[in-house]
Amino acid sequence: MALRTSVIPKVVLAAASVALLTVTSGCSSDDDSADSSASATARGPITYVEGKDTTETGVIKQIIDLWNSSHPDEQVSFKEEPSDADQARSDMVQHLQAKQSDYDVLGLDVIWTAQFAANGWLQPLKDDFAIDTSGLLAPTVASATYNGTLYAAPKNTNGGLLFYRKDLVPVPPKTWGEMIAACPIAKQNNIGCYAGQFAPYEGLTVNTSEAINSHGGSFVGPDGKTPTVDSPQARAGLQQLVDGFKSGDIPADAITFKEQESQRAFEDGKLLFLRNWPYVYGTAAEGDSQVKGKYDVAPLPGVAGVGTSTLGGYNAAISQFSKHKATALDFVKFLTSEQAQRIIADGALPPTLASLYDDPALIAELPYLPALKESIANAVPRPVTPFYPAVTKAVQDNAYAALKGEKSVDQAITDMQAGIASAGS
Ligand code: GLC
Repeated sequence: MALRTSVIPKVVLAAASVALLTVTSGCSSDDDSADSSASATARGPITYVEGKDTTETGVIKQIIDLWNSSHPDEQVSFKEEPSDADQARSDMVQHLQAKQSDYDVLGLDVIWTAQFAANGWLQPLKDDFAIDTSGLLAPTVASATYNGTLYAAPKNTNGGLLFYRKDLVPVPPKTWGEMIAACPIAKQNNIGCYAGQFAPYEGLTVNTSEAINSHGGSFVGPDGKTPTVDSPQARAGLQQLVDGFKSGDIPADAITFKEQESQRAFEDGKLLFLRNWPYVYGTAAEGDSQVKGKYDVAPLPGVAGVGTSTLGGYNAAISQFSKHKATALDFVKFLTSEQAQRIIADGALPPTLASLYDDPALIAELPYLPALKESIANAVPRPVTPFYPAVTKAVQDNAYAALKGEKSVDQAITDMQAGIASAGS
């Protein structure tokens, strides 16, 4: 895809003008503010930190290379974290708790905004740090906002999709029931029917949330705090997954699956249906994938119609401890530029820039874009709370115990409610 280059001169100009300001503020005699105002206008090399880039095209490297080609004195290095969201978060938390300045721009999973902001680790994106979010999808801006303040630039969003083998099932199922009814086709072909991500980590919270939300259940009330998961709808949602494992329609080894294991199973031709994020649309078409040309995507299956996706995605925040915040700010803005957003879309990661979803050339390349836009607009965010790690642990631990048959669904939901209630204490 041809890349527009018109953004670069503007960025360079902005860099030059802020560099002048740096010199001026360096003369300040106000010692107290000298440090933070100096870092606010200071420029130099920075490090961008995010979980493993699993896209086929390597979007982060591409974006960084493009930036670096026109910023010789403000080079960005990529510190790649593990792909497991929980492991990536804990490394970032350690660095920030120690007030280390080595992570300048943080690629934050949407669920981390509240915790990182409440701890004072993020530079609020207001006043001199304000960025233009008017062209971005509204739910992505909300996912980067905490207590009315924007803390990060929405980089990529995410919505779950159902990948299916169109060579075996020409018309995708709309409901979970229709999907299960197609499982004998998997048996005849000696492959598993359905998998998502069921290992005990954030992906299990995502999959459990989708099952529960699709049944009309919820985790917390409108205040974002009061637990509401103790409901018949939530029980029905979790039961659906438990039944899948019991019947074997979800193969037993799916209990160890994170995104990449489930992606590999599908690409090895071992699954009829897969719930995963759109990046698989790119990876399954390349390399040693056994299903090239044999798959398509559909919305997640729900109860009476399409299901409800969990809102995913990553946002770029500036560390409060960065020593080169002016460079960090320009890089964060660059991530939301059309140039960077097109690289993101090319890697089959959902962009945050709304206009790309209506771009005919891009739709021709990625025909699922309109459906994905709809899915993201209706996706349900996970609870917004500084105590999210404890909330997700309550969801993961109890869902996992139920899937393994170690707890009844009833007990798991009762305990999940209690765990969410005590998360903030
Ligand atoms: C994806 C999503 C992210 C989610 C994670 C779970 O990376 O973008 O929001 O938390 O998967 O594994």
